[in-house]
Amino acid sequence: MTVDSIVKKHGNDREHLLSILHDIQSGSPDHSLHREAIEELSCLLDVPISDIVGTASFYTMFSLKPRGRHIIRLCESPPCYIAGEENILAALERKLGVVLGGTTADGLFTLEATSCLGACGVAPVMMVDDEVYGHLTEAKAVAIVERIAAAQG
Ligand code: FES
Repeated sequence: MTVDSIVKKHGNDREHLLSILHDIQSGSPDHSLHREAIEELSCLLDVPISDIVGTASFYTMFSLKPRGRHIIRLCESPPCYIAGEENILAALERKLGVVLGGTTADGLFTLEATSCLGACGVAPVMMVDDEVYGHLTEAKAVAIVERIAAAQG
């Protein structure tokens, strides 16, 4: 979908900015908000670019830089941290060959941290794209990543 059609779908009102940004990013092949799209949106909504960038920067679900095909979000809020998040992060960094915030050389994964995903009862938790995985261990987290990578063919 074009930026124009996304704005038409939601209505060209500032109050719909988050939904519009979500749809723009979802349609982006590298899961990010491109400068050109933000500029076009700024004109369509009559909202300053700095306002849109500020909003996009505030929410961890948005990215202003290119990301991998799959986004891994590891929860680092206290319940997950206490349950061993640090060890899982280290295992994922080793497996992927990136540090937190990085994208693998093949462009397949981006590893990010997030605050609570609302699944504290099964901590530690990570989300890959739209799927939530709980009761993680280092081995389980690595196996999930390997399974997704293998499914790419
Ligand atoms: S603290 Fe990690 S899901 Fe809530």
